[in-house]
Amino acid sequence: MNDRELVDRANEARERAYAPYSGFKVGAALLCADGTVFTGVNIENAAFGPSICAERTALFKAISEGKRDFVKLAVTCDREYCQPCGTCRQVIMEHAPDLEILMGSVDGSFKRTTIRDLLPEAFKL
Ligand code: THU
Repeated sequence: MNDRELVDRANEARERAYAPYSGFKVGAALLCADGTVFTGVNIENAAFGPSICAERTALFKAISEGKRDFVKLAVTCDREYCQPCGTCRQVIMEHAPDLEILMGSVDGSFKRTTIRDLLPEAFKL
């Protein structure tokens, strides 16, 4: 799975986003160390608070299926590139402190970064 393919998987997932309130669809694709890929989308709720981002959907799906080692996450939206929110950064840091992140767009382009660069001086217990 090369980087462009992972971004493509995030964009395919993005079509399945449930975002009737914001209209802002986000897709994610998480590459695990064993080569499996878990996708995720944002899923909104009328009460707003229970909504979840695409990145956490992908990560929680993977964790709940027993995965623990993660290599790379692609996240895409209809912007030049898609930056993970602060809550997702904190959650990613907990489970995948060495994660590489591809911040992508609907056209398949992406900007490469890491969770360490996105969340310096992260809180840990
Ligand atoms: N969203 C994500 O899915 N990931 C992020 O990192 C930022 C925001 C979603 C949440 C909400 O459904 C919509 O984008 C607008 O904020």
